[in-house]
Amino acid sequence: MAPTSLKPVQELLQSGYVPETYIQKLEDDGPVPLMDSPIIDFSLLSSSNPEELKKLCSALSSWGCFQLVNHGIKSELLDEIREMSKQFFKLPLEEKEKYSSKGDSLEGYGNDNAIRRGNFNWNDKLHLQVFPHCKRQLQYWPEKPQIFRETLHDYSIKTELVTNVLLKAMSRSLKLEENRFFELWGDDKEDIIHARFNFYPRCPSSNQVVGLKAHTDGSAITILLQDKEIEGLQVLKDGQWFRVPIIPEALVIHVGDQLEIASNGIFKSPIHKVVINPQCDRISLAMLPLPNPEKEIGPLKELITEDRPQLYKRLKDYGQVYFKYMASEERQINVVKINN
Ligand code: OGA
Ligand code: NI
Repeated sequence: MAPTSLKPVQELLQSGYVPETYIQKLEDDGPVPLMDSPIIDFSLLSSSNPEELKKLCSALSSWGCFQLVNHGIKSELLDEIREMSKQFFKLPLEEKEKYSSKGDSLEGYGNDNAIRRGNFNWNDKLHLQVFPHCKRQLQYWPEKPQIFRETLHDYSIKTELVTNVLLKAMSRSLKLEENRFFELWGDDKEDIIHARFNFYPRCPSSNQVVGLKAHTDGSAITILLQDKEIEGLQVLKDGQWFRVPIIPEALVIHVGDQLEIASNGIFKSPIHKVVINPQCDRISLAMLPLPNPEKEIGPLKELITEDRPQLYKRLKDYGQVYFKYMASEERQINVVKINN
């Protein structure tokens, strides 16, 4: 039996009290304004529309995130993904525990709280590596609901496609040869995509717990499918938190730390967090494309100039740095910063 602190938070909720370890002294941010989200039209990116590329570049270098519309993924598939995640987390604990993370595996059902110091996140997750195919650990892939495996497979393929087009457009938006960011992710059969299904149970003490504490993502980019009804994601810009609006058919795209590194700091990996709703559960699915850890990544040479000296070291396996410094209060990316 897991100690109380490591139980799925969903189970804690049923026991009717919130353990001390989850209680945070949260500052009252006051009313949090809604983000005026840049909206990027995917179909215009594929046709290299100059205005849209300009908009993309500006979104990535200011907010570090935007809402992607017209991405070609049918809303039926998005709804299916949302529905099957809800169904999975609704299963009895014994059923979900068939997919519990074993040892120190990142994959499987559980929560991250075991590896974090300090306060805990009010979040359960199911974490699965979907690419490369040969690295799939199917023992962690739920068989219930029945559509789960096939639907996730379909969605992974769409994610791969969207990532490829986005990275090419991002290169072009900086007047680079279009395959430059493709070298970060996409040119290597061993490049990875992780899927992280998030579940944030409602919590009566929602003003004292945090869904996911402020963090940046360690990915190249993140493709986030939000809950269709329940808000929760917030992004920090110039010291101010903003609520990310729900646009049901849109995908939220974040710059991840590894793209910030490759772009030599031009694109910003945004600090974001998730807040909890007192009455309603919330789900989301983050798809995280990550470079093959054997591959060296670093700032592209065209983006290193006299005015913009190299900001980050070149390195392999940023993921390891990311997890090693997970509990630190500072951004993990600072560990690979060059102090010019
Ligand atoms: C994440 C994340 C946001 C959300 O999984 O890294 O930031 O809205 N998720 O669930
Ligand atoms: Ni995140």
